[in-house]
Amino acid sequence: MAAIWYFLRSTIGLKVVMAVSGFFLFGFLVEHMIGNLLFFLGPDLLNGYAELLHASQLFLWTARSVMILAAGFHATTALVLYLRQRAARPVGYRRTRSRTFSYAARTMKYTGPLVLVFVLFHLAHFTLGWQVTPAPFVEGDVYANVVASFQHTWVAVVYVVAVLLVGFHFIHGGHSLFESLGVRHPRFDGLIRTVTGGFAVAVTVGFVALPCAILFKLAGG
Ligand code: HEM
Repeated sequence: MAAIWYFLRSTIGLKVVMAVSGFFLFGFLVEHMIGNLLFFLGPDLLNGYAELLHASQLFLWTARSVMILAAGFHATTALVLYLRQRAARPVGYRRTRSRTFSYAARTMKYTGPLVLVFVLFHLAHFTLGWQVTPAPFVEGDVYANVVASFQHTWVAVVYVVAVLLVGFHFIHGGHSLFESLGVRHPRFDGLIRTVTGGFAVAVTVGFVALPCAILFKLAGG
């Protein structure tokens, strides 16, 4: 037990916790994005899917608890690792341009908290039904809620920007997930980057499609 605790507090242990929790969050987003695409098949399918997810309170709250735990572990380990890194190197390097770290890697510390802020806004908007946007909220009618929301340009823009940030976060996160789990080899590095980058782009495009289609009146009319 002590050995496990010791490992989890080590930098490698924290990175593993971050990778595993990130994997769960990514899985949720893939499922969420595919669910959102049901919008293009009509209100019955999208609302039916949402109804199914809420059918069992036990299932709903088990899934939510896993996500809340994953998000909590992910954010906490990110913060601890960041503080440790800063403590180890209190004076910044003079050369700020790094060849080994991509732009996505260096901006993780900004995209992470911004995504968290978006998720809080998003939960208030679509799950709690607070009047955070000019759109009226209809309990249980996900289709009507998204159509009413994304007709407002600023709402669509907020979602598109947030989803781009999520995609950007994935680009580095996906690759470093493998690294943290020890899956690292010069021969496979390019392949891992291509596959994780491809996933990041696919999930981003899948999410962005919905607000754009409604805003530009291509669907939901
Ligand atoms: C265009 C992009 C998105 C749209 C249109 C969208 C839409 C929705 C809707 C309509 C709900 C409520 C579903 C229901 O009540 O059954 C929901 C829930 C949720 N969304 Fe999104 N979403 C988007 C992107 C995201 C992103 C990028 C994240 C995370 C970074 C996210 C995280 C969540 C969470 C955590 C919930 C609550 C799930 C629950 O009730 O347990 N969403 N979303």
